[in-house]
Amino acid sequence: MLSPEQLIEYALQARQQAYAPYSQYQVGAAVLTANGEVITGCNVENASYGATICAERVALTRAVAQGQGNFVAIAVATRNGATPCGICRQVMAELGPHMMVYISDQQGQYRTTSVAELLPDSFAGSKLFE
Ligand code: THU
Repeated sequence: MLSPEQLIEYALQARQQAYAPYSQYQVGAAVLTANGEVITGCNVENASYGATICAERVALTRAVAQGQGNFVAIAVATRNGATPCGICRQVMAELGPHMMVYISDQQGQYRTTSVAELLPDSFAGSKLFE
C-alpha cells in the first residue's frame, strides 16, 4: 500500500497541471483506492468563475468515471497547505466518507485528518430515504 508521502507526491505532480490563470492558486489532488490505484486531479478554472472545478472534485469524479470506488485516502497539495473547501468536503463525504485526508504544502509538509473530522455531522444520502 502507498504511503502518505507517496500519495502526496502524486498530488504535487498533479498540481503542475493546474489550470489556474485567474487565481494563480494551483491545487493538486490524488485519490487512493483500496486496491492501490491512484487517480489524480487539478483545479480547472473558468472565466466564468463559478464554473471552476476544484482539484479534489476532479480527482474524485475522474475516479468514479473510471469505475473506481472504495476510496481510502486523498492527498491535497497547495502552495501553503490549505484545507479543502466546503463543496469538496461534501463531495468527499458522499464518495469517500471513510477517507483519510493528507493536506500538504508545496514542500510536502503535511498534516493528517479525515473526512469525518473535516465535515462532522454531514448531510448524508441516507437521510433522503428515511
Ligand atoms: N481550489 C481547489 O482546487 N480546492 C479547494 O478545496 C479550494 C480551492 C481551487 C479553486 C480555484 O481554482 C483556486 O483554488 C482558488 O480558489
